[in-house]
Parts: sequence; C-alpha cells; structure tokens
Amino acid sequence: MSNKKNTSSGFNSSFGAIMAAAGSAVGLGNIWRFPYICGKYGGGAFLIVYFFFVFFIGMVLMMSEFIIGRRTRLTPGRAYSALRPQHPNWRFVGLFGLLTCFLILAIYLIISGWTLGYFWESLTGILSKIPDEGFADHFKFFASLPLRPVIFTVIFLLFCVFVILGGVEKGIERVSKLLMPILVVLLVILCVRSLTLPGASEGVAYLFQADFTKLGSEGVLAALGQALFSLSVGMGVMIVYGSYLPVDDNILKSSMWITLCDLLIAILSGLAIFPAVFACGQTPAEGPGLVYQVLPVVFNSLGTVGRLFSIFFFLLLVLAALTSAISLLEALTAFLHEKGMQRSTAAVLVSSLAILLSVVASFSFGNGILSSFHIAGLSIFELLDKLTGAVLPPVCALLTIIFFGWFMKKEDIRDELSNHGTIKIGWFNVFYYFLARFVAPIALIIVLVTGLL
Ligand code: TRP
Repeated sequence: MSNKKNTSSGFNSSFGAIMAAAGSAVGLGNIWRFPYICGKYGGGAFLIVYFFFVFFIGMVLMMSEFIIGRRTRLTPGRAYSALRPQHPNWRFVGLFGLLTCFLILAIYLIISGWTLGYFWESLTGILSKIPDEGFADHFKFFASLPLRPVIFTVIFLLFCVFVILGGVEKGIERVSKLLMPILVVLLVILCVRSLTLPGASEGVAYLFQADFTKLGSEGVLAALGQALFSLSVGMGVMIVYGSYLPVDDNILKSSMWITLCDLLIAILSGLAIFPAVFACGQTPAEGPGLVYQVLPVVFNSLGTVGRLFSIFFFLLLVLAALTSAISLLEALTAFLHEKGMQRSTAAVLVSSLAILLSVVASFSFGNGILSSFHIAGLSIFELLDKLTGAVLPPVCALLTIIFFGWFMKKEDIRDELSNHGTIKIGWFNVFYYFLARFVAPIALIIVLVTGLL
C-alpha cells in the first residue's frame, strides 16, 4: 500500500523517470550552445575536457540531487534543512537554485517564443520566401515586434501549464515518454541529411578535430559551465525530480542513462548542424545568430528538402525546450505547493511572473526599447544569460556537492544507493561517492577560482 502511495505522486517507472529527467536536460543548451562552443574551443580538445566534467562532475551532481530528493521527498526549499535540521541555513542553497530556475525559465520563454514563431513561419512558407541576405533583418524585426513573439510564448507556456496540471505521472511522465523519442527520430533524420551533403566533412572536422591551442582556461571554464547547464544540475530541479523517483529506481544507473542521452543528443545536434552549415558555405555562429540567421539560409539553399528540414528543425527545438521548461515550471510550482499554495494557483503565479520578466528582458534584446539600459555593462538579456550560464549554477553546484559529500549522513546515502539494502553497493557506487567527496568539489573550486581571476 505504502508503495502505491509513493508512486502515485511521482513517476510510475524508471523508464518514465529517465525520459522526464532527460527531457529536462536535453534543451536549447544541447542544440544551439554545445555545438558552437565545442567548435570554438578546439573541437576534440574541448570534448575530452567536457567528457570529464560531464561524467565526473555533472553526473555526480545529478546522483546527489536525486538522492537528496528521494531521501526527503521534498523540494530544494525544504530538503536541505530536513536533512540537516541543526543547520537551517543550508536551505539558502536550495532557494538560490530555485531563483536560478526562475531566471532560466524567463530566458527559455523568450527563446521558445521565437522558435515557435519560426516553426510557424517555416510551416506556412514565410521563411522560404526571404532572400539570403534578409534573414538578419527578419530576425531583428520579428524579435522586436511587441506582440507577436509574446503570443507565441504564451501559447508555449499554456502548454507547459497544461502538462503540469495533468500531474507528475499523467502529465510530465506521459508527455516526456512521447516527446523524447520523437525528438531523437527528428534529430537522426536531420543528421543523415546533413552528413550526406557534399562538403559535409568540413563540418565534422570543425566539431571533432582536436586543437588544444584553442582550449585555454576559458575553454575549460566554458566546458564546466556547459556540463552543468546541459545536465540541468546545480539548481535543484533534479532534487524535485528525485523526490518523484520510484522507490526501486537504481539512482546511479538512471543518472548514467540520462547523462549518456544528454551527451549523445548534444553530439548529434552538432552533426546535424555544422556539416550543413559548411556545405552551404556559411560560417558557424552562436545562439540566436546561428538558429535564426544562418540556418534559415542553409535550409533555403536546400530547396524543397530544405523546407522540410526547416520544419523538422524548429519542431525539434520547440520539443527540446518544452520538456525543459516543463521541469523548470514544475520545480517552482512544487516549491510553492509545498509552502501550502494550490498547484494550479502556483503554476499560474510562476508563469505570470516568468512572462513578465521575459517580456522585460526581450525588450532589452537587439534594438528593443530597453536595449540601452545596462547593468554592469550588460543588457538585461545578456545579464540573465551570463548569470544562468556561467555564474549561479557552478556556485550552487559546489555548495550542493559539499552538502552531499560532507554534511549528509553516510547511512542515508548508502540506504538510497542500495534501495534500502535490496541492491548491492558495488565499486561503482563507492567510486562515485569518492568523486562527490573529493574530486568534484576540488575541481569546481579550481575552475571557479581560475574563472574569477
Ligand atoms: N539543460 C537545459 C539545456 O540544456 C538547460 C537547463 C539548465 C535547464 N538548467 C535547467 C532546464 C533546469 C531545465 C531545468 O538547455
């Protein structure tokens, strides 16, 4: 009976949990950020460092967050202090993480509005009528329209709210189990087309050829930031998802699958994008420039196939953003619900505040009305991007891992890793605990300090 109660308010199966968490991890970061920074910081050289961070720091954090969540069945707002009642200040780590989630949600909403808009324009053929040199202006024009992008954002957000209100199992888990496989199929189709274009090999080389001179300490820092961002760790979302994990889920194994899935999708994205970019004589760019200005030119030069390619690509991006935004909204909703608010009220409140921030931030983008308003030399949009990408998650991750490795009771950890003694604690678990105690915090400190200097 008690088993049943646990699972009815959480994920129903390990597979569902993996799909939901992978849905959170796989997002805009995989598709438009990873390929670019990988190429920029020396391809294969960056990849080696990235692998290390992903498996030895990111995955360690994912495991830790899952354990904290499942042990307490609480959100980050309460989980830390529940495990350490004598030190209630630990809860600030959780609250700090939730703040980061809120900021990321605002950015996600802006970009999702643009992406849904572009999906619509490729579906209706508007994009295919624009001449190559017109895309930069088209994007600026679209992004600075006061209403259109917001309407798309609202549609996107309504869908997220709808899923959240469906519940953890019937909403989030079900939608993730449906959308993630679709995402992979779309991505594989795009990869095959891209890799078979004449001249594709130049793009593959850009992504994989190791150039250590381009790496530097900046590249190492970027690799760490990207590893944390891409796995959605260091902000407590995985604590919330951990609190929904089935009692018999093998936490280390699930973390491994989620991590592999995230990494694979990032690499496949690179293979879908860069060979096509190079084959069409374009140069790689980052973020908005790549997705809304370079890629449409690539799609148009591929004729009718390109049109389909374009529809698939923007759909892929919408789906990736959707499952991530759902997890962000869920974390914040669950937090307010834990404080006593009704889930529906909480979801609507968070959404409204996030829309507000996203509209303000989007006015600061490009030539928007707030673009000349700067804080510390950055526009609001750039500031949000910087805070959520490079600053807040590593700090929060460091505190989380110190809490896990040094302040959480060993028996609690052992109990969760062994599923209350029903599975054996092998060398792999011990190795990961060692990473959590020593390797991950030291690596995080080194990278943070060199980054600051
Ligand atoms: N992992 C997401 C991506 O790759 C971004 C992200 C960071 C995120 N933290 C998150 C998504 C927390 C959901 C929840 O794009």
